[in-house]
Amino acid sequence: MECNTKIALPETFKADCVAVGVFEGGGLTASARRIDAITRGALRTALASGDLTGARGTSLLLRGLPGVASARVLLVGLGKSDEFGERAFAEAVRTAVKGAGRGTTSLAISAGEWIVKGRDPRWHASMLVVAAREVPFRSDELKTKKDDNPPRMARLHLLLDQRDASVDRGLSEGRAIANGVDLAKRLGNLPANVCTPDFLAQQARKLQKDWGIQVQVLQRGQIEALKMGSFLSVAKGSEQPPRLIVAKYQGTNRGRFANPIALVGKGITFDTGGISLKPAPEMDEMKFDMGGAASVLGTLRAAAELKLKLNIVGVVPACENMPSGRASKPGDIVTSMSGQTIEVLNTDAEGRLILCDALTYVQRFKPAAVIDIATLTGAIVVSLGNVHSGLFSPDDELAAELLQAASRASDRAWRMPLEEDYQDQLKSNFADMANIGVRGNAGSIVAACFLARFTKGMRWAHLDVAGTAFRGGSAKGATGRPVPLLTHFLMARAAA
Ligand code: BES
Ligand code: MN
Ligand code: ZN
Repeated sequence: MECNTKIALPETFKADCVAVGVFEGGGLTASARRIDAITRGALRTALASGDLTGARGTSLLLRGLPGVASARVLLVGLGKSDEFGERAFAEAVRTAVKGAGRGTTSLAISAGEWIVKGRDPRWHASMLVVAAREVPFRSDELKTKKDDNPPRMARLHLLLDQRDASVDRGLSEGRAIANGVDLAKRLGNLPANVCTPDFLAQQARKLQKDWGIQVQVLQRGQIEALKMGSFLSVAKGSEQPPRLIVAKYQGTNRGRFANPIALVGKGITFDTGGISLKPAPEMDEMKFDMGGAASVLGTLRAAAELKLKLNIVGVVPACENMPSGRASKPGDIVTSMSGQTIEVLNTDAEGRLILCDALTYVQRFKPAAVIDIATLTGAIVVSLGNVHSGLFSPDDELAAELLQAASRASDRAWRMPLEEDYQDQLKSNFADMANIGVRGNAGSIVAACFLARFTKGMRWAHLDVAGTAFRGGSAKGATGRPVPLLTHFLMARAAA
């Protein structure tokens, strides 16, 4: 779906459909009022009849209104005007795209007057694109019959009464974010028999071809040479060989790849739990355990499309966590790349085992900041559900930057504690540390504390996205989060 701006009035611009907003309680937006006036009260009649209430998430499609250039007028419920916030805006956009009718290929939307207090026109434009693009997204590349009624919406025109360069900038940002989100969703939704560690590496290689991002893929022998004993211990139970993907986006300092932002993504393409096997119900959802990796690739794509003036290195340790005769056993002790030894008390706490070596590896880039993104713990779902991603950092400034980005992106995060006290749980009688703490006792904080031991001397933050990177149940699917958060963080860094 292509999104652009048009300087035009809702009644004279000709599209397949024109969408105007109506507040709950009957308050008409300026565009709705214009159409109502031209049609001698068609909108107020619809409201009075009870066909439309203006409630959030509702819409009413009217056809053939006299004096209106577009064949369809869609009335979009905006909810109560004093409650019109960020989520209402995004929902109204989605409602408009959904409600525009199956035959509609072009939609003119008068969303320029759907104003969220405290947000600038650039924010609105960016959010418009990200929200609109959610509607037609499908993961149907493995279906032999596509949806009976595929959405045909090809163009979205944002109607404005004057040119505004910041709106056009916002549309470009939204486009880049939506493209990154779509990539992350697609990779997340692909099953583990397709989306293997090597497949992820090939997808990264495509970013090199399409976007000039420099990609290096390390194979098992090279990972061994780096002495990533912790990462390799997770990979060794599987027939699928591990990959360490290193992707560099260079947006500044031509010739010298200086002080990049490092993004480290957990790339477990399937997590059975290993010998500490997971129960059968919902185990299929563990194909989403590479959501962190997918968000790194999606964010790199977005950064390249936006030509951000900063350097980024994405590092993805990718492997499967499988039980087998060659798999790690509970109690095994492994030596990480950092030299620290780890007692693997539970093979299902594998994310931290692959991330710790990747975190040690990124030291060589002298990164300005490191952010790791991982579907790391079930415990974060207990804490924050699927609303907020868990943010952990000992660095108040970096945490504040990320929370600010989360807010601007409407891709919410909540800062969690990371005090030394929790480190006690990782004591081991036989190694430098254990890979788990006490069951039912601050599991996501203890996991973050484990990672902290591999970040000495770096500015570091960790995002636990186990609750936000995908949905289970009937709405099962990857969400593309936290690509919007990360892209906003990078945009702010590049602007500073
Ligand atoms: N990939 C899982 C975490 C997860 C759980 C992600 C649910 C998405 C939804 C992770 O590898 C894991 O198994 N964590 C264990 C850690 C425990 C053994 C300390 C968990 O959360 O149960
Ligand atoms: Mn696990
Ligand atoms: Zn996992």
